[in-house]
Amino acid sequence: MLYRPRRLRNGETLRSMVRETRISADSLIYPMFVIEGDNIKEEIETMPGQYRYSIDRMGECLEEVIDAGVKSVMLFGIPAHKDEIGSGAWDSDGIIQRALRYAKTKYPELYYITDVCLCEYTSHGHCGALCGDYVDNDKTVELIAKTAVSHAKAGADMVAPSDMMDGRVGAIREALDENGFVNTPIMAYSAKYASAFYGPFRDAAGSAPAFGDRKSYQMDFHNINEAVAEAGLDIAEGADIIMVKPGMAYLDVLYKIKEKFQMPTALYSVSGEYAMIKAAAKLGYIDEEKMICETAVCMYRAGADILITYFAKEIAQYIQKGLIG
Ligand code: PBG
Repeated sequence: MLYRPRRLRNGETLRSMVRETRISADSLIYPMFVIEGDNIKEEIETMPGQYRYSIDRMGECLEEVIDAGVKSVMLFGIPAHKDEIGSGAWDSDGIIQRALRYAKTKYPELYYITDVCLCEYTSHGHCGALCGDYVDNDKTVELIAKTAVSHAKAGADMVAPSDMMDGRVGAIREALDENGFVNTPIMAYSAKYASAFYGPFRDAAGSAPAFGDRKSYQMDFHNINEAVAEAGLDIAEGADIIMVKPGMAYLDVLYKIKEKFQMPTALYSVSGEYAMIKAAAKLGYIDEEKMICETAVCMYRAGADILITYFAKEIAQYIQKGLIG
């Protein structure tokens, strides 16, 4: 027998020598929730191990991130008050803006990305301004661009629009440039599907829609060509990084988009993926550490350059321990 594929699987040294996928903590982003109030660190029931922090305690989380060797966080804000148009999102004294000013001063070594969306700020929980029951695209795009600029003014290093309105990347680029933020990159949630995997996040952020669903703006999970089209539009409008979301069940979409555009491509492994692993591990049905390692590596293998995950700290530690890498 000339070819024996098993020859190269014999022993850890050889296996790690011929490994095709290498991962590094440099490409991990940790999503975290900041809430209005004082002295708050409350666990999110549906995401054990994840917390909502008030600004005065967010340092506890940022220090853990830094200690783990993760270099970037993505901030989500939970305001005290919501209204019809989500005006808390672009308030210069809003939760994200204040959190950014605090964190950038206290922990300047971290790289701060903000999620740009209105759903945490609207009383109805939809990602934009309503016209009847319909989310008004063009009006929302204006508000989203305004929000992105206010994040940049407060110190955001990068903005990540997750609203899925048409034309928002172009509008954000123009607004950032006009305000002197030509070097603030945009990471576009390009192929963001209407997904049940976001369930735990909506508990965490109190952002479940009060009526209907998000299917008129987020994508239908039956589709993949449409994801390619969405990514193409975002790139044409000036996206620096494109993103696929959710992760685990959408790796075909990631693979296709990476193959086609060869752009820096991020994958967001979302709250439901985290919750499933946590819940099954708690029941003793799976090995949590092995499951985190395997799923993370598979995401990179499928084409992710960047991974946004609630397991970022654990993954960084597993890389350091040599469990993966
Ligand atoms: C805001 C937003 C959501 C997520 C990221 N940004 C929720 C949604 O679209 O309903 C989901 C993240 C997760 O589930 O971890 N639009």
